[in-house]
Amino acid sequence: MLQSMRINGGSPINGTIEISGSKNLALPALAAALLTDKDVTLHNVPNLEDVKSMLNLLFHLGVDMGSLENGTITLTSKDLKTFNAEYDFVRKMRASILVLGPLVSRFKKASVSLPGGCAIGARGVDLHIKALEHMGANITIENGYINASAPHGLIGCDINFPISTVTGTENIIMAASLAKGTTRIINAAMEPEITALAELLIGMGAKIKGHGTSIITIVGVEALSGTSFTILPDRIETGTYAIAAALTNGKLLLKNCKYDHLSSFFETLHLAGIANKVYRRVDCEHDDIEVWRERDIINPVNIQTAPFPGFATDLQAQFMTLMTICDGTSSITENIFENRFMHIPELSRMGANISVYGKTAIVTGQSYLKGTNVMATDLRASVSLVLAGLVARGETIVNRLYHIDRGYENIDCKLQMCGAKIERFTA
Ligand code: EPU
Repeated sequence: MLQSMRINGGSPINGTIEISGSKNLALPALAAALLTDKDVTLHNVPNLEDVKSMLNLLFHLGVDMGSLENGTITLTSKDLKTFNAEYDFVRKMRASILVLGPLVSRFKKASVSLPGGCAIGARGVDLHIKALEHMGANITIENGYINASAPHGLIGCDINFPISTVTGTENIIMAASLAKGTTRIINAAMEPEITALAELLIGMGAKIKGHGTSIITIVGVEALSGTSFTILPDRIETGTYAIAAALTNGKLLLKNCKYDHLSSFFETLHLAGIANKVYRRVDCEHDDIEVWRERDIINPVNIQTAPFPGFATDLQAQFMTLMTICDGTSSITENIFENRFMHIPELSRMGANISVYGKTAIVTGQSYLKGTNVMATDLRASVSLVLAGLVARGETIVNRLYHIDRGYENIDCKLQMCGAKIERFTA
């Protein structure tokens, strides 16, 4: 049954929101459990549809697992039943490609469905494939499947990515951890999720240096052991709720997040007139961040998305919603994905004034948005519409809610607790 969300806009979002574990770290961390026959226990795993999709895929491959309870799950990958990640799994979630590197590296073979296109762009996996071929894998593409084998194991080498790829870098770090010799990833992605994945692998006995920089060096080892690891807070969820406070002229305390992972985002918010105060926690390495609007008006700010530490593409749609009610005109350029403006027609139906010129959107702020029926098309586009609904006059219905449940844990409850008039219903 399709679910929708009804939002009656206009209430300031005030209070405290606990940030969940990062989706985009949980997914590669779960795939990393394929690299060892020992127990891998993960904590702070968010209960999301994408996480369930990855667990279903790993279960189908034959990974033993308990249930996800209070954010904790243990996985053991002894003898797998199959090395085939079928279309049905990959179609639901592109990140299923993250099993390719671990499977071919440890089990010497894998067959993974090609992800195909997705809502936000063509998003090939050619760079994953070329890098594994460079490491000695034989790869053929047949009937929509990537068939990879490396009967004598993968061999370390220099991998030079022509563009920054997050899951590409993650796949190769995992594959290289069990390869023979040394692999150097040049132009590696530097997202915090990659640094954390490397730390998880180091905890399993991998020899990795340079993670967090653009050159990562991995010296392969014979076998990896088990470990216990805590997933980082979700920086995109943090940024999304920060925008909710700013948009609605409320004040939120975002608990258990990482300011350093969002410093350039908060600098951009600061230019828009949004203040923040960071409280370093003594009980853990995380922060609590308080966010509020400094003045009544929001300033226009021009942004361009870029790989970390630049402005994250995963926060572009939410930031655009903020700009729809700013005092002036801003320009938003999407440099990572070719089709990540699908929220624009829906925001326009709510009264936003946005024109698109290639990969740049020009947003002229209006004094208000109007509630109406809108359609969610992908995860971040969907949440930008929920944010718009929070500030719009009247009622907004966001249809096709399943996109949001892929990446936001309990979003309706978290917002309700902070004063949002929001409810889920079955359409
Ligand atoms: N690309 C290729 N060939 C490849 C790999 C990538 O052409 O083999 C292109 C893509 O089409 C894109 C660019 O390179 O234009 C960057 O893509 P990247 O590989 O970095 O994206 P990804 O690894 O598929 C991850 C996140 C995305 C996030 C991007 C960019 C996960 C599971 N997904 O995707 O998250 O937008 O990096 O930061 O980590 C989301 O959470 O909503 C989401 C889409």
